Amino acid sequence: MPGSARELSLRPARPGDLDAIVAIERVAFTDPPWSRASFASLVDDPRVVFLVATDRPAGGEAVAGAGAPGGVLGYVVAWVVVDEAEIANLAVAPERRRTGIGRRLLEAAVTSAVLGGARVLYLEVRESNTAARALYGARGFVLAGRRSDYYRNPVEDALVLRLDLRAAASPPERVRTRRVDGGAST
Ligand SMILES: CC(C)(COP(=O)(O)OP(=O)(O)OC[C@H]1O[C@@H](n2cnc3c(N)ncnc32)[C@H](O)[C@@H]1OP(=O)(O)O)[C@@H](O)C(=O)NCCC(=O)NCCS
Repeated sequence: MPGSARELSLRPARPGDLDAIVAIERVAFTDPPWSRASFASLVDDPRVVFLVATDRPAGGEAVAGAGAPGGVLGYVVAWVVVDEAEIANLAVAPERRRTGIGRRLLEAAVTSAVLGGARVLYLEVRESNTAARALYGARGFVLAGRRSDYYRNPVEDALVLRLDLRAAASPPERVRTRRVDGGAST
């Protein structure tokens, strides 16, 4: 079925994906979105797992947004520092949500973290973000803490969620992953 999660391809982000990534980022978050320069700095950074989901084979060049065949449908950014991993960003194009793309990207990040040697994976999520919390909860993330008034527009707490990777074994996602030996923090 066209556009179904079964036809998804995950691959490392490329410079040609940035327009589509920034477009998704701008509609996905009410806080100041990550800038194009921020995303650009992560492409080809060996310390960072930066994957995009597209609906065509990984060898093709994505040239358009989520509304066109072959466009970027979502992305995830994660990294491992020593034995702890963090998912720093995850978003799916609004018109393609609830088709399994977020779950696939999350699973790829989990797999990358395991392969990178992490024993635990953290992320932050708005307390009111029921969609993301449901996604993470279904994967086994548990509440690890709270950051008061962490977000702006509107001001809201962040929940810190944690996944124990020693208990997170799952079938590996078929994507190219890179060993991460260090990295910045958000
Ligand atoms: C959160 C987000 C990435 C989920 O992506 P998605 O592709 O729609 O998610 P999936 O289709 O893979 O859903 C997987 C599971 O997550 C849960 N889920 C996802 N969206 C949900 C929603 N709106 N309401 C309730 N549960 C939801 C469900 O358990 C779902 O499984 P199901 O469809 O079999 O019931 C997407 O909503 C998004 O981009 N939101 C804006 C950006 C954002 O909040 N990012 C996370 C920041 S921490």
